[in-house]
Amino acid sequence: MSPRGATVEFREVSKRYGLARTTAGAAAPAGGRATPDERSDDARAAIVPGAVNDLSFTVGAGEICVLVGPSGCGKTTSLKMTNRLIEPTSGEILIDGRDVLREDPVTLRRGIGYVIQQVGLFPHQTIAENIATVPKLLGWQAARIRERVGELIDLVGLDYAYAARYPAQLSGGERQRVGVARALAVEPPLMLMDEPFGAVDPIVRERLQDEFLRLHRRLGMTVIFVTHDIDEAIKMGDRVAVMRAGTLVQYAQPAQLLTEPADEFVARFVGADRGLKRLSLISVGELPLHDAAVTPDPSLPVISVEARVRDALSAMLASGVAMAVVVDADGRSLGTIGLDDITGLLAAQA
Ligand SMILES: Nc1ncnc2c1ncn2[C@@H]1O[C@H](COP(=O)(O)OP(=O)(O)O)[C@@H](O)[C@H]1O
Ligand SMILES: [Mg+2]
Repeated sequence: MSPRGATVEFREVSKRYGLARTTAGAAAPAGGRATPDERSDDARAAIVPGAVNDLSFTVGAGEICVLVGPSGCGKTTSLKMTNRLIEPTSGEILIDGRDVLREDPVTLRRGIGYVIQQVGLFPHQTIAENIATVPKLLGWQAARIRERVGELIDLVGLDYAYAARYPAQLSGGERQRVGVARALAVEPPLMLMDEPFGAVDPIVRERLQDEFLRLHRRLGMTVIFVTHDIDEAIKMGDRVAVMRAGTLVQYAQPAQLLTEPADEFVARFVGADRGLKRLSLISVGELPLHDAAVTPDPSLPVISVEARVRDALSAMLASGVAMAVVVDADGRSLGTIGLDDITGLLAAQA
């Protein structure tokens, strides 16, 4: 929607904790002879699996890319390599074609929004002061900072009265909103978010997710969003990168993860999804039906209008087609529903 988002490209990025950078960028020892230390690094590299291994994917301008996978699979490491809070052992990360390793880390970080679960607000600063952190560092005039802080408080759905309060006086959800406002202060073309809504209760979490999606539609920045919750990934992501043990297993649009899981791991991970289970609460009749006047293809799976949407999804996945015929109690066709209707529902609800 907006031309403001950056493109991010990971090229064969690996991270092995405890090892120095080994390829281009770190000079080989003069004469090509490894020191004893480097030999031991090589030896360890051969046996110790990396925290992140050969990660390659591209995030288009303005997209939300979600990194998802079980705890310890390398999500946070990948995110922190993007703004150089962690240095990759090898590989390249390009933001709008520029290698982050060639940027000054401090300047780089000021231009990238960063939101984490514990927010990291300064407890002895007011909300206004917290939000103004980066504009102040950049030397903005006081009047411009005040105006921007007001805009941001409004943008994230807080009342301006919060400006003078301190973090401890806010609820968890309100603090997360302040974290988002602070990250947005200088309109970064890229935002990195690490389990940003993980610490709040489910209802607040859903509200924060919805608010953030609205905000994103309005601002159009690129987002890399980390979660361990496949439900959140499917809801938030334009594209989802499923990781396992430091390796990218599948990078696809949410609907494709559901229909074409790359392997058993993804299939099980998606199958365990709470969001999909919530589809058990909705009946097929609540979805818009298509092609009501058309005689249905007899090879399509058939589902009762009284059935749950979850059952319709299972029927489609079992038969490998993205459509099902909806019938009434007498077995008469009422029309069809598509897999898109269901994935649309997943994105809209929750
Ligand atoms: N500073 C560190 N030193 C050594 N190992 C680490 C460090 N940080 C993370 N790891 C290890 O790297 C792997 C990936 O961690 P992390 O990126 O935090 O995973 P995630 O965010 O997916 O839970 C884990 O095995 C973790 O124990
Ligand atoms: Mg993490």
